[in-house]
Amino acid sequence: MQAIILVGGLGTRLRPVTYDTPKALVPIRNKPFLGYTIDLLREAGIDGMVLSLGYMPDPIQSYIAERDDLDGFTVDYAIEKTALGTAGGIKNAERFLRGDGPVVVLNGDVLTGMSLRAAIEQHEAKGARATITLTSVEDPTAYGLVEVEHDMKVRRFLEKPSSDEITTNLINAGIYVLDREVIRSIPADQEVSIEREVFPHLQEGGGLYAHVSSSYWRDIGTPRSYLAASNDVLSGAVGAGEDFDYLEVDSSVSVGKNAKILPPVVVGLGCRIGDLATIGGRVSLGKNCRIGAGAMVEGSIVLDGAVIEDGAVVRGSIVGKDVRVCRGAIVRGLSVLGAGSVVGEGNVLDLGIRLNPKVELAPRSVSF
Ligand code: GTP
Repeated sequence: MQAIILVGGLGTRLRPVTYDTPKALVPIRNKPFLGYTIDLLREAGIDGMVLSLGYMPDPIQSYIAERDDLDGFTVDYAIEKTALGTAGGIKNAERFLRGDGPVVVLNGDVLTGMSLRAAIEQHEAKGARATITLTSVEDPTAYGLVEVEHDMKVRRFLEKPSSDEITTNLINAGIYVLDREVIRSIPADQEVSIEREVFPHLQEGGGLYAHVSSSYWRDIGTPRSYLAASNDVLSGAVGAGEDFDYLEVDSSVSVGKNAKILPPVVVGLGCRIGDLATIGGRVSLGKNCRIGAGAMVEGSIVLDGAVIEDGAVVRGSIVGKDVRVCRGAIVRGLSVLGAGSVVGEGNVLDLGIRLNPKVELAPRSVSF
């Protein structure tokens, strides 16, 4: 069985991270996100995937080319010239499908411990034309909700309802099983949305079923959810399955005197950690990062080559590749710093501020 993975979107909500890295390759625990998707497919016994590409296809293809452990797992590339949307992307991948059985389709930004096998088996048992997997969320107001009948047929879709209209907390988990005739019926070479066009049409005809999963699920579409997904993988909730004391510090890492590294943490190859620095509260440091003396990094993702200078603080934020956070600067509150940006001495960034790549904030004098 093959899968189609939708990885062609612009990832606008995750900018500036996605200006230089497609969402499918942003690292979690220093492993490109697509690696987790491939693990999920292989665990389910799926033996190949078609990557439905649009935005930044080259680094995704290079990532696959560099993997030497995909024996027996086929990868094909369907590249769009213009964005075709979620169903258009599936249609564009159709020519790479072999045989005639159902196909699993995944949004390429979903991290889950869900059993794809269970979804496929239910799809077949129900004789569905299409099956949408659903997951429950605590606050359903921000999502499109899906109401389900007792026999698991989809009853209706509710798009971002107000709190008094809420009848369910089940949302589309971005993983589908589709019969081939459903893919055949999608018009070619035009933008089509599976959520807004294909599924409502199938629901009217009664062929659309839901598979509800209670397994771990999160998408990484926003800075908040990307950071949360990273924390969850580090603490073993999903992915690698390590326990809460997870600590990965390679021998190429140099650690200064009295520096504290508190698990769960991953420290990439070649990092240098200064004296008295503190790294903890679920941190992922990419390759060749430098953390200065007395600096503190907490609950954050720091990408390759970033420098956090002496006495600087990074807390609950995402620091892009080759960023420099200068002496004594503070970056907190879900700030997101684009690749190569510089936060000059004495700056305090907070409240989800996003810095575009290569922006340089001048130093600020600090008065006490
Ligand atoms: P935002 O711009 O932040 O909404 O992110 P996105 O572009 O990834 O869109 P969204 O999160 O809605 O997309 C869900 C999944 O579908 C992601 O894995 C996207 O990569 C993928 N996707 C979205 N639009 C397209 C498209 O036009 N073509 C293809 N091939 N995939 C798409």
